[in-house]
Amino acid sequence: MKHSTILNFTEFYRFGNPFETEAVIINKEEFLYDDNSKLMYFDIYNEGESTFLKYKMNENDYIFGLGENLGSLNKRGRKYRMYATDDPNHTPEKEALYGSHPFIIVDGKEKFGLLIDYPGEIIFDIGYENINEIKIEIKSKDFELYIFDEEDKNEIIKEYLTLTGKPFVPPKWAWGYQQCRWSYPDEKTIKDIANKFRSKGIPCDAIYMDIDYMENYKVFTIDRKKFPEFEKMVKDLKEEGFNLVPIIDPGVKIEKEYSIYEEGVKQNYFCKNKDGNDFVTAVWPGLTHFPDFLNNETRNWWGKKYGIFTDLGIYSFWNDMNEPAIFYTLRSFNNVVKAAENMKNDVNMGINAFLAKDKMLAMSNSREDYKSFYHIDDSGNKINHDDVHNLYGFNMTRATVQGFDKLIPDYRYFLLSRSSYTGHHRYATIWTGDNHSWWEHMLVHIRMIQSLNLSGFFYTGADVGGFGCNSNPELVIRWMQLGAFTPLYRNHAALGTRNQEPWSFDSKTEDILTDIIKLRYAFLPYSYSEYMKSVEDLTPFIRPLFLEFDNDRVKQIEDQYMYGESLMVAPIYTPNSRGRYVHLPEDKWLVWIASNYSNRSMKVLQNGDYYIEADLKEIPVFIRENHMIVLSEPTKYVGEKNIEKIILTGLITDKGSYTYYEDDGVTNEYKKGNYAEISVNVSKKEGEYEVEAEIDTSEDYIPLLKEIKLEIYDEFGNRFNQTLSLK
Ligand code: GLC
Repeated sequence: MKHSTILNFTEFYRFGNPFETEAVIINKEEFLYDDNSKLMYFDIYNEGESTFLKYKMNENDYIFGLGENLGSLNKRGRKYRMYATDDPNHTPEKEALYGSHPFIIVDGKEKFGLLIDYPGEIIFDIGYENINEIKIEIKSKDFELYIFDEEDKNEIIKEYLTLTGKPFVPPKWAWGYQQCRWSYPDEKTIKDIANKFRSKGIPCDAIYMDIDYMENYKVFTIDRKKFPEFEKMVKDLKEEGFNLVPIIDPGVKIEKEYSIYEEGVKQNYFCKNKDGNDFVTAVWPGLTHFPDFLNNETRNWWGKKYGIFTDLGIYSFWNDMNEPAIFYTLRSFNNVVKAAENMKNDVNMGINAFLAKDKMLAMSNSREDYKSFYHIDDSGNKINHDDVHNLYGFNMTRATVQGFDKLIPDYRYFLLSRSSYTGHHRYATIWTGDNHSWWEHMLVHIRMIQSLNLSGFFYTGADVGGFGCNSNPELVIRWMQLGAFTPLYRNHAALGTRNQEPWSFDSKTEDILTDIIKLRYAFLPYSYSEYMKSVEDLTPFIRPLFLEFDNDRVKQIEDQYMYGESLMVAPIYTPNSRGRYVHLPEDKWLVWIASNYSNRSMKVLQNGDYYIEADLKEIPVFIRENHMIVLSEPTKYVGEKNIEKIILTGLITDKGSYTYYEDDGVTNEYKKGNYAEISVNVSKKEGEYEVEAEIDTSEDYIPLLKEIKLEIYDEFGNRFNQTLSLK
């Protein structure tokens, strides 16, 4: 083992000869020395090809982390498998989802963090076999470990993000509402959807193009029969304030004269089978090859292809199926055919029908297939896919971003991926994949965005309204309320399911949904300011309560979270409920049972436990004592008008300060310091409020904000109003 101490408190260990994943961005080599002392906190041993780590938990230890996973926020009691998997049925027993984020925080008698940098399979058993034991199996002897030897959870996260990179910053429009469906199949449907949003006055910033825009699902093509005037449509929608988000799938159709296929074969850009021929698999387009994204040259080639869209002004994409999902291979297909043939003469097969069903299902995403293909890395080494499986989505994203670096270097892009690995958060984000229109999946959503934020995916979200199966008005209303207080606000539904656009139900539901979306837009100044500050501070934007209030009670609260620094959200996620229990930690809180932006009646509550009533159209949100939020008049889309006036509101019993952040929202100028921060300090002295504002801006950025309207409450619920004009 080799070891060194890096950054402030991180112990870095290298075992064997690991593959360099590039999850970590800092130079970690410098002080590495041979070390045979004991590994901190864990017992470590080998068995067969695997390495095991064991840690004895105390009864009351909390374990947080693991990013995209099912189960509770406290990870105890289950097994989690880090092996990127395209599983569209997120039922409670599932051990793996699309991403791998092997980072945990242990918070108990001992406190520390652990990151395992290994791109193959890792299994975390957190009190599953043995109630008080963590047992981690790394399916290799070659990997790197980072132990964050620090008690403060916020500090652990900061150091983790210093190692793996600052979270991705999308353009400001990404805070708008986004409409998706598999699929809006043609130009006319997309235009109709866009017109409907505008004519009904429902704000919207993005419309997605799912797989049907392509010609026979061939990546980087546009079906001209369905989109005869694609360029004009893009231009017209842009003028109306819509961003189009095309889906990009990695599987390249095997078809003569299809340029992506021809180039890939000629230049050796595809993954190989064991004989060195291009590996054949099947996804949407039928038989396909997988680009070898582990290879830099392939990434550069692929990245440039996004140019057909960026040339038209489309800077927003959705990389899907990049676990990579395999519908079948020639091997698994033949197995199924054989099994079916065997069955043919045995219609009375009885119990064998069970086994037959499993054989059929084994056709997709089979481990044997993942073990049967290879990558060639930049040094020409042949690497079995299974050993680096979790890097496929990560490297597809890197390929896209390598393209953007050349195509649109000055602009921010919007990029979702389905699969990811630690460090992916610095390039782009993920959404949480194929959930269902189930109430249970709202709670999954609430927990997962908190865990993902701990792993650096600050801007993230789930398919609002649920992807699989049919939704219903109440579910969509409650989910749209929840989604309004998550960073990615995308409503998406699967092929063949009930429509979920805001007008797809009855008129009452439409009115409620319209108000919710407008409420979301009213929060834009707050959401954006908080996001930009959280990225700068390396502090999660969606904060589990335990990052703010460190006591055992809040560590058990998984269905309330902080949305930025000042606001706590308690979504309603059970059917037929007209309220819920809410815990208000530590401070006094200003309660807003929010349904629409104009109705801002708020009241003060002491800390404690409450049953808070919230009618179907309402979501309870809480502003923390001596903290504030900022709001503005909702617009049709994010860039429609400059934000010149904001409302600043909160409960000030002593003093509080709010920093409003502003930049151009579309370019990377903010990285050069071209943004403004406008801080307002409010203090209460002898029953009177004193207010001062301060503007901090660079020479090249002229702030747009002109007026701040204060609506400040005291502990008795009295409201103090004042308007500040900024010069
Ligand atoms: C996958 C994606 C889903 C998409 C569908 C069709 O299931 O996760 O979001 O709609 O493929 O492209």
